[in-house]
Amino acid sequence: AKKIILDCDPGHDDAVAMLLAHANPEIELLGVTTIGGNQTLDKVTHNAQCLATEYGMEGVPIHAGCDRPLLRPVNPAAKEHGESGLDGVVLPEPAPLSEGHAVDFIIDTIMENEPGTVTLVPTGPLTNIAMAVRKEPRIVDRVKEVVLMGGGVHVGNRGPVAEFNIWTDPEAAKIVFNEPWPITMVGLDLTHQALATDEVAKKIADLGGPVADFVLGLFTFFRKAYQDSQGFEFPPVHDPCTVAYLIDPDIVKCVKVPIDVETAPGITNGMTVADFNAPIDETVHTQAAMELDFDGFWSLVVDAIDRVQKS
Ligand code: BDR
Ligand code: CA
Repeated sequence: AKKIILDCDPGHDDAVAMLLAHANPEIELLGVTTIGGNQTLDKVTHNAQCLATEYGMEGVPIHAGCDRPLLRPVNPAAKEHGESGLDGVVLPEPAPLSEGHAVDFIIDTIMENEPGTVTLVPTGPLTNIAMAVRKEPRIVDRVKEVVLMGGGVHVGNRGPVAEFNIWTDPEAAKIVFNEPWPITMVGLDLTHQALATDEVAKKIADLGGPVADFVLGLFTFFRKAYQDSQGFEFPPVHDPCTVAYLIDPDIVKCVKVPIDVETAPGITNGMTVADFNAPIDETVHTQAAMELDFDGFWSLVVDAIDRVQKS
């Protein structure tokens, strides 16, 4: 199984990423770390703890991370995720929070495991990851890869060309993209294909059971939120696409291309700039996810719900 740390801000789609990472046998979830993003750090951490109870994730540590971007103020995505960050569902009691800062957990876990075995999976702003790499630069050579949800090839959901996670902390994103570790940017090009359609909801409803109902509750809120705030008919379930890629790379087609982040103020602030004119050689350590196997992706999610309910 692939060892991962999920660094997230649940968040409806983060909640599905957690479920997939926990339930799929190809993934060994070493820990969940939280980052202020979709809502404030205290809210998303509480949500992660409650999701751990909902999914039966005993033994998976949860560590709270940074409560704000490196330079900028906190700017929650309440339109998409509500005041709690997970509006629309009733949450169970929170599982315990582990002691120690997320940044230290990330560093220690990478340094204690064999080199090349731990993958970082950030699905929120990149503040914790940037802090970790500045505190312990050796993690760059030591991780297997970074598979993140964020950015896009010149598409946006916070302005014309900026995606929420990158836009929230562009300075952190710039740090992360400029380290030479292998990065897969699972951006909006890809995740806008991961729509929770009626057909998908029916497959989940057909399973029946408490976690199926819970996920349907998430999707119902998320659908209305995306209709009202971004004009989507069905909500794009961004974050679990990262985990799906790690389970089966054939589900997410990627293009190798150099990517950097714009931090200057103005209309391109927070843009992930992909240079398709640059030569593609061994120095290029970034790739952009472009094409999703829709059925393959959703069957992984449905299977994860089924497994969690049977365990
Ligand atoms: C990203 O922003 C958040 O609202 C979602 O959880 C996802 O990680 C999509 O732009
Ligand atoms: Ca997220």
